[in-house]
Amino acid sequence: MPRYDVVILGAGAAGLMAAIAAGRRGRRVLLLDHAAEAGAKILISGGGRCNFTNLHTAPDRYLSANPHFAKSALSRYTPADFIALVDRHRIAWHEKTLGQLFCDGSARAIVAMLLEECAAAGVELRLRQRLREVTRAEAFRVETEAGDIAAESVVLATGGLSIPKMGATGLAHVVARRFGLPVTACRPALVPLTVDAAMLERVRPLSGVSLPVAAALGRRRFREAMLFTHRGLSGPAILQISSYWREGEALSLDLLPDAPSDWLVARKRSRAKAALRTVLAEALPQRLAEALAPPESAAAPMADLPDRTLAALAAGLKAWPVTPAGTEGYAKAEVTLGGVDTAALSSRDMSAKAVPGLFVVGEAVDVTGWLGGYNFQWAWASGWCAGEAA
Ligand code: FDA
Repeated sequence: MPRYDVVILGAGAAGLMAAIAAGRRGRRVLLLDHAAEAGAKILISGGGRCNFTNLHTAPDRYLSANPHFAKSALSRYTPADFIALVDRHRIAWHEKTLGQLFCDGSARAIVAMLLEECAAAGVELRLRQRLREVTRAEAFRVETEAGDIAAESVVLATGGLSIPKMGATGLAHVVARRFGLPVTACRPALVPLTVDAAMLERVRPLSGVSLPVAAALGRRRFREAMLFTHRGLSGPAILQISSYWREGEALSLDLLPDAPSDWLVARKRSRAKAALRTVLAEALPQRLAEALAPPESAAAPMADLPDRTLAALAAGLKAWPVTPAGTEGYAKAEVTLGGVDTAALSSRDMSAKAVPGLFVVGEAVDVTGWLGGYNFQWAWASGWCAGEAA
């Protein structure tokens, strides 16, 4: 049986980084994936330009049953470390917004960089590998359709459950459970939200309309764009809040986050002769303004409308209550919330406390970042920490 120091299951962001770090240490590394190509999610990420990290990376940008768990890895491998790697490969990048760093060109450059680093570190990469089972006697035994492989260490890097069409499976969770590691409840996150039939009738005609909003749920508030879709709501603000939303809860959407609460009453003074629908359309996308203007007063001049009517309308626009019916599920979720329980792992190197030589990294772990490059930073950081120890 061929024997390796480290066998890594999953050649995504975290697995590639773990392979590079372990290979650089002189470990004999085998990286296995069932896909035809490594880093498939990197290739489609960030609209094809890969939002590869975020300058504001901090533990409070991550959800986990243990909010402290990510601290160690994120401080040991930082955005500056990944930027230095990108710069060494002369990949041009820019900050788009909110600390989000994107490639100027194609995400393919990031995958090419990681593969080059793997090759330089002597990593052996095998694609189209069907994995059957991982067991352990005096060493780990990774059973594949092409034969069994012995390994001193195994790194589970097969990601979460998001986008099964792209090859996502629960393999890391299944193997972790088999070795006695608990897995927390999983759910789709960074995912579009759906609305019930009655609300869908109102929002479907708005499909395609996008505007800056503040989406709030309890103390969480995200000021980003929102998009009406043919099934409900999407866009960065909604994806962000979706990670915190639970069935039955109502979101509060501020459709005019920059406007003071008395803005409509103030407009009555400055635009006395204008129709209400015209004034609304000056602040909101036309189609949304038409849909939100109360039919009985839409055509009325502002001067004819009582202050209290305008104040109530403005308050409604600044705190529009929406109770989503559900999410669009793993088929559309950028990430999976939940995963291998951090209580079973070392926060320093991602090793399983009770199973020497077993490591879990990336999205497979119960650490989920906000939208905006945070998830890749977690994948790089957790992968690097495991690769330094495996
Ligand atoms: P990842 O899913 O990347 O890799 C897992 C690997 O394991 C895959 O190569 C898969 O083929 C393999 N695998 C799975 N099951 C297997 C099995 N049974 N046998 C063998 N191999 C198996 N994040 C971010 O920070 N910035 C961004 O711009 C984006 N954009 C984005 C867009 C879209 C459309 C999605 C779906 C997601 C994002 N993300 C993102 C999230 C980001 O892609 C995600 O957090 C990381 O890819 C997670 O890295 P991992 O290596 O943990 O899993």
